[in-house]
Amino acid sequence: MCGIVGYVGRRQAVEVVVEGLGRLEYRGYDSSGVALVGLDGRLGVEKRAGKLANLRALLAARPTMEATVGVGHTRWATHGAPTDRNAHPHTDCHGRIAVIHNGIIENFAELRAKLEADGHKLASETDTEVVAHLLEECAEEGLAEAMRRVCRTLKGAFTLLAVSLDEPDVVVGARRNSPLVVGRGEGENFLGSDVAAFIAYTREAIELGQDQVVELRASKITVTDFHGAPAPTRDYHVDWDASAAEKGGYDYFMLKEIAEQPRAVADTLLGRVGPEGLLTLDEMRLSDEELRGINKIIVVACGTSYHAGLIAKYAIEHWAGVPCEVELASEFRYRDPILTRDTLIVVITQSGETMDTLMAVRHAREQRSRVLAVCNVNGSTVPRESDAVLYTHAGPEIAVASTKAFLTQLVACYLVALYLAQVRGTKSGDEIAGIVARLTEMPSKVEEVLGTVEPVRKLARSLADERCVLFLGRHVGFPVALEGALKLKELAYMHAEGFAAGELKHGPIALIEEGLPVVVVAPSPTGQRVTHEKIVSNIQEIRARGAKTIVIAEEGDTAVEPYADTLIRVPAVPALLQPLVATVPLQVFACELAAAKGHDVDQPRNLAKSVTVE
Ligand code: G6P
Repeated sequence: MCGIVGYVGRRQAVEVVVEGLGRLEYRGYDSSGVALVGLDGRLGVEKRAGKLANLRALLAARPTMEATVGVGHTRWATHGAPTDRNAHPHTDCHGRIAVIHNGIIENFAELRAKLEADGHKLASETDTEVVAHLLEECAEEGLAEAMRRVCRTLKGAFTLLAVSLDEPDVVVGARRNSPLVVGRGEGENFLGSDVAAFIAYTREAIELGQDQVVELRASKITVTDFHGAPAPTRDYHVDWDASAAEKGGYDYFMLKEIAEQPRAVADTLLGRVGPEGLLTLDEMRLSDEELRGINKIIVVACGTSYHAGLIAKYAIEHWAGVPCEVELASEFRYRDPILTRDTLIVVITQSGETMDTLMAVRHAREQRSRVLAVCNVNGSTVPRESDAVLYTHAGPEIAVASTKAFLTQLVACYLVALYLAQVRGTKSGDEIAGIVARLTEMPSKVEEVLGTVEPVRKLARSLADERCVLFLGRHVGFPVALEGALKLKELAYMHAEGFAAGELKHGPIALIEEGLPVVVVAPSPTGQRVTHEKIVSNIQEIRARGAKTIVIAEEGDTAVEPYADTLIRVPAVPALLQPLVATVPLQVFACELAAAKGHDVDQPRNLAKSVTVE
């Protein structure tokens, strides 16, 4: 969603704010803007449609406004097209108050009608602008008090930052159902949608709670609830530095993040395997007794995280013997799912801020189900509102298309499944230790795949003019096929579909025509003998109809050789762990194809990294 930065201190605010926006651009990039409280008593507002580069060019062409207080925004449009006029910040009638916003103000139409009836002139089509005018109405109360009053009248989800010429040394922020963190500096303080906004300046952060207002000054941070009562907050240290959120010599963040996968997988396993291979999941705030009482698991997630959930189902049912469903978060709460105290909801979310997923968590907890979050962002909203959390240790993921987070989500889900098997006794200690031993080999297996992807790059470039690619898989290869197709849609804007190979004959086979590239994720011939035999038949069926077959198969799998126009080899690993190696070539494939088409790999059109609206 939108990226938000606020600064109060001693540096040139424009530099701090634009630096922060650069690190947050992955959250949205339709337009961007800054508001600076000038030392000369003017409010400088500059904004531009398009990527941050456009704003940078605009700022470079103007004399720098001397200011040590400012806010900045990079937008993912909801209300109003991504034009200069709709770009944030928005100001009040007198140009004395500037506001930036992430989220959706659901009652903005009625608020706007009232403001217009009262004589306010609104210049944009956004929901945000009403806030600037509402703050103007009660400006004499002071900015923080005005913000509290306004927040009490707003419906929906919002992070808001405001500056005012009447209080030139303060930035006021507010949050409801949308992220905002404080960065604590020395003689300077920061606000950001996430810590990336200020990581170049400080690693000391403060987590804000729901429905809180923060008044930020250079040497004072005051946090209250929407009624002015002092509110509790939590200080934490960010355990990665600015270099983790930089490209480090790679052309794209996505390439860097693909390359970081062995490390990310290893880090996610770190400290979780105890002596004799037994698992210790210390952030698991659910007792073994509670876990033994669980009679159903529902995995809930969106996008790539949903695909990790589909794979989790195979592991949970196979190892732990607990019935498991997987559901899209955006559908979950609208179909009256049957939830009881004995249902465990496993939510998977890289960001911890996806609104669909957050709403699913709340719905499940209202029905008294327990929620375990698998999440990559420490202190984000979903883990805070869940009963237990298992953090993936992928480090910051900047590219919009998820790669390393996906692999670590798989690892976390395997750990959950094995942990359940351990406490429920569905697998012996030796069996678990055996699987865990294979899991700990996975970083080197992923590394091996990364060393052999050059032919995949070449293949991708050769397919840059294709209009459609199909992906087939069986067993855990089916979600991998879905993920391969999603990556291609996201990055190359190509029609791409993933199918369960067995479903082919029930419809999709009609799509096969001469020369159509079809990527097949072949199951392990040893671990999945029956499905392997069947997929070999499926490959023959599509080839007989003219498809160009691209087969991802294990080392040593000779059965597929005669039917593969292109063969992509991955190391042989236990069947359930195959997604950890089979997904990697598909990530590289999509990334390279998008680059060959000249697309912005890290910031694909219309997408945002974290979608904080429903
Ligand atoms: C957005 C992103 C996807 C991501 C999905 C879920 O749509 O573009 O890459 O998979 O959100 O995000 P989450 O942070 O909940 O995993």
